[in-house]
Amino acid sequence: MASSNVLWHKATVTRLRREQKNHHRGIVLWFTGLSGAGKSTLAHAVEERLYHMDCQTYVLDGDNVRHGLCADLGFSAEARTENIRRVGEVAKLLLEAGVISLTAFISPFRADRERVRALLPHADFVEIYCRCPVAVCEERDVKGLYKRARAGEIKDFTGISSPYEEPDAPELVIDTTQLDLEQSVELVIAMLRERGVVA
Ligand code: PPS
Repeated sequence: MASSNVLWHKATVTRLRREQKNHHRGIVLWFTGLSGAGKSTLAHAVEERLYHMDCQTYVLDGDNVRHGLCADLGFSAEARTENIRRVGEVAKLLLEAGVISLTAFISPFRADRERVRALLPHADFVEIYCRCPVAVCEERDVKGLYKRARAGEIKDFTGISSPYEEPDAPELVIDTTQLDLEQSVELVIAMLRERGVVA
């Protein structure tokens, strides 16, 4: 809670002015899903495409953010909630900066995602569910973490010993067992065009 002695300083270079200069709107693309579902891969591929369209973008990635801003947080329910709260606040700043931010966090709890949604203007938060059954993620086991979780070496592992709550009404569902990366990128870009974020 901010102290009552701290006042808001209004910027003269506003979000709108930045967006006009960027020639696109800012938005938060919130990718959620299990470890190994494809969130980071898709977020970075979409960013690559947007980069070639001259858009201002930034990917906030769970693994990376946990090296710095959230290096003090583990994987208890409370720590995950705090992780998502901080990322939500960063996404809000990036939105003010007129940037298209792409966040790739498991963000397993519905209430945490809804809190971020409520923090932002309605049209500026898009929840993208990277849907992939835990059995498939475990089969992929890109980082070898599922094996270690099954062996009891990692506690509170999402999908194994910690819950993942599916979104009720995400703006977009990407079934990563059915679509390849290129098709998935196309769906996200098409949605951004439909919403008038990019031309
Ligand atoms: S969360 O739940 O949103 O706070 O998690 P996030 O910040 O996205 O971090 C997930 C990445 O951390 C690695 N990792 C774990 N994931 C889940 N559960 C446990 N216990 C855990 N320990 C480490 C894992 O590499 C996740 O990365 P992704 O990209 O999702 O595979």
